[in-house]
Amino acid sequence: FEKMPLNVKINGSARQLSVEPRVTLLDLLREQLHLTGTKKGCDHGQCGACTVHVNGRRVNSCLTLAVTTEGKEVTTIEGLAQGDNLHPMQEAFIEFDGFQCGYCTPGQIMSAVCCVREGHANSPDQVREYMSGNICRCGAYSNIVDAVMSAKN
Ligand code: FES
Repeated sequence: FEKMPLNVKINGSARQLSVEPRVTLLDLLREQLHLTGTKKGCDHGQCGACTVHVNGRRVNSCLTLAVTTEGKEVTTIEGLAQGDNLHPMQEAFIEFDGFQCGYCTPGQIMSAVCCVREGHANSPDQVREYMSGNICRCGAYSNIVDAVMSAKN
C-alpha cells in the first residue's frame, strides 16, 4: 500500500507522518511512534485497552484508521500528566487501587477522564455504564468506580 501523509498533533506535538491507509491509530502509536502506553488487548473493539482521545473524545484506537486523524489532536496516556504532575484521574487510580496487573489501566484512565468531562459520573451506576466498554480481567471494577467517583470532585 502506498503511504499517505498525515499531519496530526500527538500529545501536544505537531507531527508530519507518513502512514499506509490500512494502519490503525493503535498500530501507528505503538509500532511507529513507540507510544506503548496504549495497549492492544483484543484489536477488535471489545476490550477498551486501546482507548485514546481524538479531539478530546474517547475512541478505540484499534477501530480508528490513523489517516482519519488528519488535522486532529490525539492524546494518549503518555500525554495526560503535566510534567511531573500526574493527572487527577491518575492520582485517583493510585489512591483507590484501581488496578491489579495494570494492563487495562491506560484505557481505563482515558475513558474515565471522558466520563467525568462529559458529565457521566453523577452516580456509580452512571460510571459503570459509561465505563462498560473497558474490560478488566483482574476484576478491579469496584475500585475503578471509586476512583472515578472521587476524581470527579
Ligand atoms: Fe481496541 Fe480491544 S484493543 S478495544
